[in-house]
Amino acid sequence: MDLGGRSAIVTGGAGGLGEATVRRLVDLGMRVVVFDRDAGRAEALAKEIGDDAAAIGGDVLDDEDVAAAIAAAGSLGPLTVLVNVAGGGVGGGRTVARDGTPHDKDAFVQTVELNVVATFNMTRFAAAAMGGNEPDEDGQRGVIVNTGSLAGLEGKAGQLAYGTAKAAVLGMTLPLARDLAPMGIRVCAIAPGTMGTPVMLGALEHLKHDPAEGVLQPKRMGYPDEFALLVESIVRNPYLNGENIRLDGGLRFTAK
Ligand SMILES: NC(=O)c1ccc[n+]([C@@H]2O[C@H](COP(=O)([O-])OP(=O)(O)OC[C@H]3O[C@@H](n4cnc5c(N)ncnc54)[C@H](O)[C@@H]3O)[C@@H](O)[C@H]2O)c1
Repeated sequence: MDLGGRSAIVTGGAGGLGEATVRRLVDLGMRVVVFDRDAGRAEALAKEIGDDAAAIGGDVLDDEDVAAAIAAAGSLGPLTVLVNVAGGGVGGGRTVARDGTPHDKDAFVQTVELNVVATFNMTRFAAAAMGGNEPDEDGQRGVIVNTGSLAGLEGKAGQLAYGTAKAAVLGMTLPLARDLAPMGIRVCAIAPGTMGTPVMLGALEHLKHDPAEGVLQPKRMGYPDEFALLVESIVRNPYLNGENIRLDGGLRFTAK
């Protein structure tokens, strides 16, 4: 599919992995909506990119904000690519803390909302919009890429909420791909290991262990652009569909 002049939405587009994805999609000739609840950073990025980007400051859980992002994409070109990057952890910890306190219920629910409900919400509206596109020679109208985590496959102790939420994101891939195939829309997800985004680097600063521990090769954290490169591969390869792809340098999470 020729991506030139087509539009994309990147949720969490002002964050570490999101920004790298925005930049790469623009380099591919796409026009990109940076959809992020951090309106200031979204606007700064879109301004720096110029005519090929627009910022929507809003929440992926809010239907009106989602509608605004889809309308903004439509005014840039046919919405063809959605990359759901917004997500993360909202506190949590172990099922029962060392002092005997049970896991906070609100933190669990919020983590599921931020990762699972948000991905579902954005996807349902974006897919409906993509359904109106002219199909290419393969009958393809759009591509959706979701963001899981190794925590969704091999959650560590203390990752109950986040690991559950990311497992659900990865669990959506096949039913989404099956639901949306008749509309010509492919769906894949990426399960990153430890990526050196500003948020991750900040969180790791206080830890004593090497963040690259367990990574086989290359012996370092992933670069945000390596995530964006995999998004590009998924978007450009029409035969990738219904798959969760690890991006981890061979890392396997152990219990702790
Ligand atoms: N960095 C890693 O090592 C790593 C590893 C595995 C998975 N992930 C996942 O990758 C994604 C991005 O991670 P990151 O490190 O770039 O984080 P980040 O915090 O830099 O980016 C997340 C962005 O999403 C935005 N956001 C959060 N909730 C939102 C909402 N409700 N509506 C709109 N925008 C919202 C934030 O403002 C932020 O800009 C997350 O889903 C994270 O769980 C990251």
